Amino acid sequence: MAELTWGRRYLMCPPRYFEIAYEINPWMHRDVTVDPDRALAQWEGLRRTLEEAGADVELLDPVPGAPDLVFTANAGFVNAGRFVPSNFAHPERQVETPHDLAWFIQHDYRIDRLPANVHYEGAGDSLPFGKVLLAGYRTRSDAASHVHLSALLHVAVRSIELLDDRLYHLDLTFCPLDERRAIIAPTAWDAYGRRVVASVVAEPLVLSADEALSFCANSIVVGKTVIMPCCPPPVGRQLERWGFDVAICAVDEFLKAGGGCRCLTLPLDIDLTTSVSPG
Ligand code: ARG
Repeated sequence: MAELTWGRRYLMCPPRYFEIAYEINPWMHRDVTVDPDRALAQWEGLRRTLEEAGADVELLDPVPGAPDLVFTANAGFVNAGRFVPSNFAHPERQVETPHDLAWFIQHDYRIDRLPANVHYEGAGDSLPFGKVLLAGYRTRSDAASHVHLSALLHVAVRSIELLDDRLYHLDLTFCPLDERRAIIAPTAWDAYGRRVVASVVAEPLVLSADEALSFCANSIVVGKTVIMPCCPPPVGRQLERWGFDVAICAVDEFLKAGGGCRCLTLPLDIDLTTSVSPG
């Protein structure tokens, strides 16, 4: 089975200032404290696992007052050397964008901006599958962002409405595995979104509602390695039948903020202009 054409270069941000300073999703509680040493050890563990699987990791400097900057998946979306920065829905995260932009400008990416009044939360809400970009909306990103994204990137964008506030980004419900397969959590989507995914994913690994809430879809795929925050046994058995190696990375300090493995990484090597598969 042809492996993903992307997933070998990521941007990550060390959790030096990571804490639960506000509540913008149902998992966050200000009275829950983060153990900074444990958070750093878990983040280092994820970075090491990515590198051992064959991925390169680039670093964004952490900034005081932007605790969720660690969730680089939400910085924006990268396609073929172009960076589309997020327009965060919450003011608490809007402070991150100047720092994200500075990194991408410094690294010679071309910057393409969405209209300022359209919310969009980057790779957290957009994942390629073959030549198509699947994009989530409602909780964080606006459906209108998909039209603009399609025009900016010259790619087909298929919209999926996210119904469950606990699974508020697409990357909590969808994980591309290779050219034909993906982990999917259809209970989090509307009927149209389910049909969209059924039309592009030939072999889905379907999660139950409970499995989806364990954040096991928030995984990173590097070739044949699936790096997961947790793996329910039936999911692990199917992945192994398909020839994947499962690497579990404990990231429970970050689950306190509603983010898992995938949320802590932004893929830098997506190129929807050259990927295979029919769209
Ligand atoms: N606390 C962050 C927020 O609510 C978590 C972001 C998780 N990121 C993701 N790609 N799902 O925005």
